[in-house]
Amino acid sequence: MVDLSQELLGVRFQNPVLLASGTCGYGQEYSDIIAVDDLGGIVTKAVTREPRLGNPPKRISETPGGMINSIGLANVGLTGFKRDKLPWLRDNLRRSHVLVNVAGWTVEDYVTVVRGLDDEAGFLGYEINVSCPNVKGGTVFGTDEASLGELVSALRRTTQRPLIVKLTPNVADIGRFADICEANGADGLSAINTFPGMLIDVETRRPVIGSVTGGISGPAIRPMGVYATWKAASRVKIPVIGIGGICNARDALEYMLAGAALVQIGTAMFVDPYSAPQTVDGLREFCERQGVSQLSQLVGTVEV
Ligand SMILES: Cc1cc2nc3c(=O)[nH]c(=O)nc-3n(C[C@H](O)[C@H](O)[C@H](O)COP(=O)(O)O)c2cc1C
Repeated sequence: MVDLSQELLGVRFQNPVLLASGTCGYGQEYSDIIAVDDLGGIVTKAVTREPRLGNPPKRISETPGGMINSIGLANVGLTGFKRDKLPWLRDNLRRSHVLVNVAGWTVEDYVTVVRGLDDEAGFLGYEINVSCPNVKGGTVFGTDEASLGELVSALRRTTQRPLIVKLTPNVADIGRFADICEANGADGLSAINTFPGMLIDVETRRPVIGSVTGGISGPAIRPMGVYATWKAASRVKIPVIGIGGICNARDALEYMLAGAALVQIGTAMFVDPYSAPQTVDGLREFCERQGVSQLSQLVGTVEV
């Protein structure tokens, strides 16, 4: 019997595969198709202080090896999340863990959402999105060292729940930003969010995406995600969650060898909604084939 579990953030994840923020709604959306509770967990769509309609269409398009999106943090807002989404998570996910992705524009925005949720049941902790390239100011906290430190320490004072900071790859030295999060009390890091990108329709000479630019995700960004994970994990002691272009167990293993304790799957779920459960099965098969009894033993073991 292979043990796929991971112990981190004060709990046991039954396996390391989570669904990435913004690609699985609030979990319920996938529940007719896959057994969400069999996964390691899910990360909700970003929750902001107020509800948001998001950016004008067109909001997504295919790109080589992936997609571009500019959803613009469309979401039900803090009150709507508590009233309409959290009850399903609380009642239906018993074994998998829920991280609530939180976004904002000021320290107070983030603190308000965290404070508004903190006494509720149904989720483990927060993934703080300081890395959204699709809204004005969406990456300010993720690309400015002083602002990031201020935000993380304010949130640390607000909650005792696990606090994961989701990093942007759009910086010169992601290790430095990982350091700042750890020094200010973060319990973990997620790496990475999307890369800013642009698509132009040459016939109309106009951008394909309504808000002109968007974030690139999918297999095209996987080597950059693995790099960022490796850089961050080599720098800090807190756990790192690897994200970017993961489609199967092989891809997940690449991130884990680079130092990821958990992984998240996003874009691949749009192509094949069974990607996540099949990744769990594939990890088990890999360990059996390689004679690995505990998957956690592989984390960070890339030989460089
Ligand atoms: C349609 C879409 C919406 C997203 N929304 C969010 C979001 O609300 N918050 C967030 O932190 N990341 C968001 N992301 C980024 C993903 O969580 C993930 O970091 C990124 O897509 C890379 O992983 P992937 O290549 O597996 O998709 C979104 C990505 C996509 C494609």
